[in-house]
Amino acid sequence: MIGLMKRATHFLDAGDRYEPDSPLAGKIIANLFMENSTRTRCSFAIATKRLGGDSIDLLGSTSSASKGETLVDTALNLEAMGVAGIVVRCSEESGPQEIAEQVGIPVINAGSGTTAHPTQALLDAVTLTRYFGKDDLSGEHIAIVGDIKHSRVAMSNIEGLTKLGAKVTVVGPEELMPNNITCESSSDFDSVLAEVSATMMLRVQFERDAKVGEDYRDKFGLTQERAQKFSGAILHPGPINRGLEIDENVANINSSPHNLILSQVTNGVATRMAILEHLIG
Ligand code: CP
Repeated sequence: MIGLMKRATHFLDAGDRYEPDSPLAGKIIANLFMENSTRTRCSFAIATKRLGGDSIDLLGSTSSASKGETLVDTALNLEAMGVAGIVVRCSEESGPQEIAEQVGIPVINAGSGTTAHPTQALLDAVTLTRYFGKDDLSGEHIAIVGDIKHSRVAMSNIEGLTKLGAKVTVVGPEELMPNNITCESSSDFDSVLAEVSATMMLRVQFERDAKVGEDYRDKFGLTQERAQKFSGAILHPGPINRGLEIDENVANINSSPHNLILSQVTNGVATRMAILEHLIG
């Protein structure tokens, strides 16, 4: 984890001065996305190009999965066409693992079910360590707030941030709090916000049937009033429900130097470059 974070940081520091030695030259990466994505899919595609490779996209809605072909069969066909690796997003928690057991090429989990989004957690770790100017997150207390129950970002971040030495507290209404949480939990956002050095706001996942009361924004939203009293880092993995989990003005990148929402996106390309280079380059 630390090695990948250092490599991502190297890519970020090099910026436009980065001279690629094209570790993916001649290689094609398949982006197999059975669920929709903006950030993850585009950043893997851009990362592949920046490393001198090429990528193809296979989307669930237009693939033969819509005719009943299984995820593993789809992956086996991509491998038979000669791709060098598969980046997969799917609703099945075990999908990436099942593919990895059947193919002979690297498989990267780009979000599976409600339990894992490891490359997001890695880019969030890069974002936070750069913000705090440290190699790890020891001594930091980080809140993850909102629809914890449906959030693979929360699950991977609890694991990743804790490994880096942070204390993590998840905050949300009881009905959006799973019972297998491995860190502290709370339903009192204001008291947690007073203690933390960063808060990661999560999208309410209506597409997964999340239900929230009319008082959700008042209790769990990063409102302008709360943001004015908070001097720590503000993160959101996106996509954002503006005006619900985070106020319109607070979400805007110019609102504060502590707003890291688009830094997360920028860092996502560098982090995925580090991952692709390590596994496939
Ligand atoms: N953060 C994230 O996974 O965003 P996308 O769903 O747009 O990839």
